Amino acid sequence: EKGGHEYFMLKEIEEQPEALANTLRGHFVDGRVVLDEQRLADQDLRDIDKVFVVACGSAYHSGLVAKYAIEHWCRLPVEVELASEFRYRDPVLDRDTLVVAVSQSGETADTLEAIRHAREQKARVLAVCNTNGAQIPRESDAVLYTHAGPEIGVASTKAFLAQVAANYLVGLALASARGTKYPDEVAREFAELEAMPQAVSTVLGTAPQVRELARDLATAKAVLFLGRHVGYPVALEGALKLKELAYMHAEGFAAGELKHGPIALIEEGLPVVVVMPSPKGRAVLHSKLLSNIREIQARGARTIVIAEEGDDTVRPFADHLIEIPAVPTLLQPLVSTIPLQVLAAEIARAKGYDVDKPRNLAKSVTVE
Ligand code: BG6
Repeated sequence: EKGGHEYFMLKEIEEQPEALANTLRGHFVDGRVVLDEQRLADQDLRDIDKVFVVACGSAYHSGLVAKYAIEHWCRLPVEVELASEFRYRDPVLDRDTLVVAVSQSGETADTLEAIRHAREQKARVLAVCNTNGAQIPRESDAVLYTHAGPEIGVASTKAFLAQVAANYLVGLALASARGTKYPDEVAREFAELEAMPQAVSTVLGTAPQVRELARDLATAKAVLFLGRHVGYPVALEGALKLKELAYMHAEGFAAGELKHGPIALIEEGLPVVVVMPSPKGRAVLHSKLLSNIREIQARGARTIVIAEEGDDTVRPFADHLIEIPAVPTLLQPLVSTIPLQVLAAEIARAKGYDVDKPRNLAKSVTVE
């Protein structure tokens, strides 16, 4: 059942193009992006004036990506919160607030308690979930299923990618319902999403190169990850994967924060993974990251750079370059995450750890 793989996780990493295609399938109907279940009137969606995304772990990182897309497409303020923090603050919610609960299992206690709290305050709840009929979608006003298929590996890979994709669909569904985008614009964005499974297949081709790098990094004491804009949540996810699987000290940072603290950690030989934005996107983002790489390389870091193919400007500063296909700026996490998943899994394998069942972790955490 592992499809010739030593671990389910490696198989699930390879299944990502298919998982992504399944998440998107059937969601563009008559010029609109639609949800799977909607027990709310369209008018309720039009009245929404604020969005909170609540989730835990990797699902939380998928929510951070959603913030960039939903704000851009819907012109709605979006806050992303760890479910466990959201629940025990006093978040300001009312019937015009949409709480998007992202959960692979649909049973995570922290997320479930967060939506119960939200509903008590009359907020509307939309679940993004991978498990049909789970508790979180049952207690929600609307549901988008990720359709990634069952995930065995405890550390999320294909379910995470499907969550990122589903969150883009939430953004487009809101844009459709609220009229902030014309049907032809929604159609164009959806078509860009539909091209992503192919791009993910392409980036899976970097696995042998990443495996080789992993053997090299297995003895490192720590690894840092830097990203900016949508590359920032990718950096956080890359670091989380490495903690979960390889039990290494790993931290993700917003690249702009480097000079406000993390640069003090840079020392000779420290591996730093940098997620570069497309050079064809916002030039200012790209040039800022480029100067970050220069700074850390000048201080002796070993730079591992994830960059768009053909981005020759990074070559002089990359000790190790991993090339990913050119995709729209907002969608880049769907490809840039993949080499980081492979990196963590292969470092764990090189260290002889159980990739599918990391110590102390459970696939679904049903206690707060
Ligand atoms: C965890 C899992 O503790 O729960 C993570 O080990 C996962 O991989 C997190 O991201 C959230 O789970 P779910 O099911 O709510 O997406």
